[in-house]
Amino acid sequence: MSISADRVDTVLQHVGQAPLNPVTGTGPVSLPAVRTSTVRFASMKAHDQAQMARHAGHRVATYGRVGLDTHEAFEALVCELEGGQRAFLAPSGMAAISMTLMAYLSAGDHALVTDSVYGPVRAFHKSVLARMGVAMDFVAPDIDSLQAALRPETRVLYLESPGSLLMQMLDVPALVRWAHDRGLLVVADNTWGSGYVYRPLALGVDISVLAATKYLGGHSDLMLGAAVVRDAQHVRALSDTHYALGSTVGADDVWLALRGARTLGLRMQACGDHALQVCEWLSAQPSVRRVFFPAWPHDPGHGLWQRDASGSNGLLAVALDFDRHQARRLVDALRLFGIGYSWGGYESLVSLVDPETLAQHSYWRSLSAGGLQAGSVLRLHVGLEDAADLLQDLESAFAAV
Ligand SMILES: Cc1ncc(COP(=O)(O)O)c(C=O)c1O
Repeated sequence: MSISADRVDTVLQHVGQAPLNPVTGTGPVSLPAVRTSTVRFASMKAHDQAQMARHAGHRVATYGRVGLDTHEAFEALVCELEGGQRAFLAPSGMAAISMTLMAYLSAGDHALVTDSVYGPVRAFHKSVLARMGVAMDFVAPDIDSLQAALRPETRVLYLESPGSLLMQMLDVPALVRWAHDRGLLVVADNTWGSGYVYRPLALGVDISVLAATKYLGGHSDLMLGAAVVRDAQHVRALSDTHYALGSTVGADDVWLALRGARTLGLRMQACGDHALQVCEWLSAQPSVRRVFFPAWPHDPGHGLWQRDASGSNGLLAVALDFDRHQARRLVDALRLFGIGYSWGGYESLVSLVDPETLAQHSYWRSLSAGGLQAGSVLRLHVGLEDAADLLQDLESAFAAV
């Protein structure tokens, strides 16, 4: 295990504290949500100094769009978690992804994308990047496949580990070595790890993007994204793109995310513990063909998870021999798992995975070629409810089918 969870938990409680009033020596524990459109300067000298610092690339707010203290506190928290120099906020995880790809890709460039990434990245390429002359290939996350798709104009390797839907662990350090040897910038979606149980920047990745909508916010009541840069040399491109795109985040949402993040560790540990119990239960059911959860010792990614991750969370997938109709009946029979697409909140959720989306994943195709026969795949987010109640809910729903 590579990260000291104790240190992270301490950091989560102390980053972004409210300053004390220098006259009275008192202040609130929780930093308020500082909402503004306009920054006021004490004098022209202060104005000039602020502008100069901003032009030199420092995080100095001269206008409300980049956000003031609340935003800065959350950026600092995400930098601490991920081990980065600077963080840039975006109104959603997807907005952080699109902002980052636009910062480092130009007309004529090509990017390699591992085929288990969050699905809408494909839509972003199809409807926006392709129109702007950026090519992208979605390939199996192994070096032979990447090498075969490499072009002279390839600039970026974009990956996600564990991958979306089937939680496929990637050998990120090996992929990074391969990419850096070829001069590529490596960007990783770290929504799963959220800087707490997995830290791609420590594995060599250059930029980590994440949806704070999920575990960081943790309460299913906000949308927020962040892109975290490891090295100073990559800050400028993202800083300029972030500013130029003009997408800003309301202080109230950032404040909620900051509040949620204080309990990130407790929530992730509890969800991960409950999910492991759900895996054990599921694996004993005759209708279950396969459970996908890297912290589970029978998952093929378990070795990489042991090497590179320091914990887990509540997200898992299960392949069933139920056909679509039976799977729909199962989902409808669940009482505690709400039907919904998101994850990372306090509550348990279930969704039926679209077979066409699954077929885009080489991992799924290779499992099917290897003999895995499943009629349907469910994704479960196992939440903070009592684990015994969740198991009972699953038991009665399976019995109903
Ligand atoms: C792995 C992953 N990355 C990014 C996103 C996008 O986040 P948002 O919904 O905040 O745009 C999601 C959302 O489901 C996700 O699962």
